[in-house]
Amino acid sequence: MNIGIIGSGGREHALCLKLKQSNFINKIYCLPGNAGTALIAENIEIDIDNFDEIKKKCTEKNINLLVIGPEKQLVNGIKDFFKETDIKVFGPSKIASQLEGSKIFTKKLCKKFKIPTSKFEIFETQDTALKYLDKSNYPIVIKADGLASGKGVYICKTKNDSKKAVIEIFNGKFGKAKSVLVEEFLKGEEMSYFIICDGIKYKSFQTAQDHKRVGEGDTGPNTGGMGAYSPSRLNNKILEEKIKKKIIEPTLQGLKELNTEYLGFLYVGLMIVKNEPYLIEYNVRMGDPECQTILPLLKTDFGQIVISCCNRDLNSQKIEWLDKKSLCIVLCSNGYPDNYKKNIILENISNLEIQKGQYVIHAGTKYINNNFYAFGGRVLNIVVTSDSFKKSKKEALEILNKINWKDGFYRKDIGYKVTEL
Ligand code: AMP
Ligand code: GLY
Repeated sequence: MNIGIIGSGGREHALCLKLKQSNFINKIYCLPGNAGTALIAENIEIDIDNFDEIKKKCTEKNINLLVIGPEKQLVNGIKDFFKETDIKVFGPSKIASQLEGSKIFTKKLCKKFKIPTSKFEIFETQDTALKYLDKSNYPIVIKADGLASGKGVYICKTKNDSKKAVIEIFNGKFGKAKSVLVEEFLKGEEMSYFIICDGIKYKSFQTAQDHKRVGEGDTGPNTGGMGAYSPSRLNNKILEEKIKKKIIEPTLQGLKELNTEYLGFLYVGLMIVKNEPYLIEYNVRMGDPECQTILPLLKTDFGQIVISCCNRDLNSQKIEWLDKKSLCIVLCSNGYPDNYKKNIILENISNLEIQKGQYVIHAGTKYINNNFYAFGGRVLNIVVTSDSFKKSKKEALEILNKINWKDGFYRKDIGYKVTEL
């Protein structure tokens, strides 16, 4: 079986590394991939929003299965596009992708199936939203409905901030807005719970906690993710049962009632309040950098898992994990998440010596004339698995010290809640 991976970030390099180890995959193509994937697979420069072009390439290269990394192509219906072809797609349908594509879709599903989530109101006009904010309690959360690349969520401490957010959203900051979501602020600790699903059965696919803010101590603007660790310190059997029974199973049932099903990874973003899970968001894909953090812990052949999922036979798979602690630190370009330079040389990568359990996973990089260049905001993911989070973090920092990239920065406190244990 030949496989194509759609995407070019750290998540996609991690998927590629794991599929490379599979006994069930012949050749891997990355569309378009990055410098890391170029070293172990064949990159294909292509516009991944053009599904016709992807289809042509699949025919030309005899690609039988596509693994979709990012949400955008899923929300735009790549699964449905390939439905009548021989090419299998590991990822959910357009309707099921609304779980990430529309926060309001998810909230309505929560209401219908009594899935625990923060209390909310949906407003279709600016005026009604502003009036509601006059009598609300603070902090409060304001959200734009559609995909907003991790932006579009405002945690507002004051009435003024919340009104500004509503006005920005209705003024089209995240595209034409038909409505706005106003949510109760939940105070707790976040945890991400992952499942893999074949349309019939689902299995757990680890937990993680990420750090979204750019600054140490979780301060400053939101980013795609500055680092993560897995497993989450919050997970336990009782909590896991609640997540499955109160959140995941009613969601999958809800999708069935909409005449669709879920195939692929589902990322369940939760707020844990006194060992009770509340759904904050769904993502219809693996997290980034959670994917880089989790996959090195997987013992089972990942290619076999993906293929069995596409054959609706996940039940036959036993998914096994290493009993290790994984921690990932993201090396970013100076200026990220705002403006940063592109096309900067990355020295000290080619000759970098790393040990077993250590991984340098590429994100926004290109490989040109035997040199590595940074092109993205998030550039490299340094991942270490070991017997303790403290050790994993120490080793990750040592690697970053060796790389010593003057044009970049990283958070030195990733996993601070677990590394001091
Ligand atoms: P979202 O894109 O919906 O995941 O929101 C981004 C981030 O905003 C989440 O990871 C949380 O840190 C925070 N957040 C979103 N909704 C809430 C809420 N209702 N209460 C507290 N924090 C929230
Ligand atoms: N790390 C957060 C995300 O992938 O959405």
